[in-house]
Amino acid sequence: MKILVINGPNLNMLGIREPGIYGNQSYAALCESIRSYAAQNDLEVELYQSNHEGDLVDQIQAAYGVFDGIVINPGAYTHTSIALLDAVKAVGLPTVEVHISDVSAREDFRRVSYIRQACVKTICGHGFAGYTEALAFLKEQKT
Ligand code: DQA
Repeated sequence: MKILVINGPNLNMLGIREPGIYGNQSYAALCESIRSYAAQNDLEVELYQSNHEGDLVDQIQAAYGVFDGIVINPGAYTHTSIALLDAVKAVGLPTVEVHISDVSAREDFRRVSYIRQACVKTICGHGFAGYTEALAFLKEQKT
């Protein structure tokens, strides 16, 4: 099973950005934990990060016919982007929305998620573990 893991804007700044909210571990450490979980669980993963909305749309579109599922943390585009929602709807791949922090317990504007309605599951506030939980969910759904 092939899963594309997408991270949106500012997630490349993990370890530096607001450590009280996102922790002290870097984006490279996140990638390493996802890769190692995938290797132990017979999953193929590809990781992609961009700060640009259109690039994220391109990546979701390119997943069509190539990947079996998507794990996405759209960062701040969660709360603004109809284009990402439409892209996930367009490809029709099972997609899990992940947030490191508990977006429901922060500012009001973080409670809105456009992409959520196209996702099979949302995981919030579990830190880096949310990504591996999302991989496990997609794997279990397929079997
Ligand atoms: C985030 C939450 C978003 O509100 C924020 O803009 C992010 C990260 C999270 O992982 O908790 O960039 O998606």
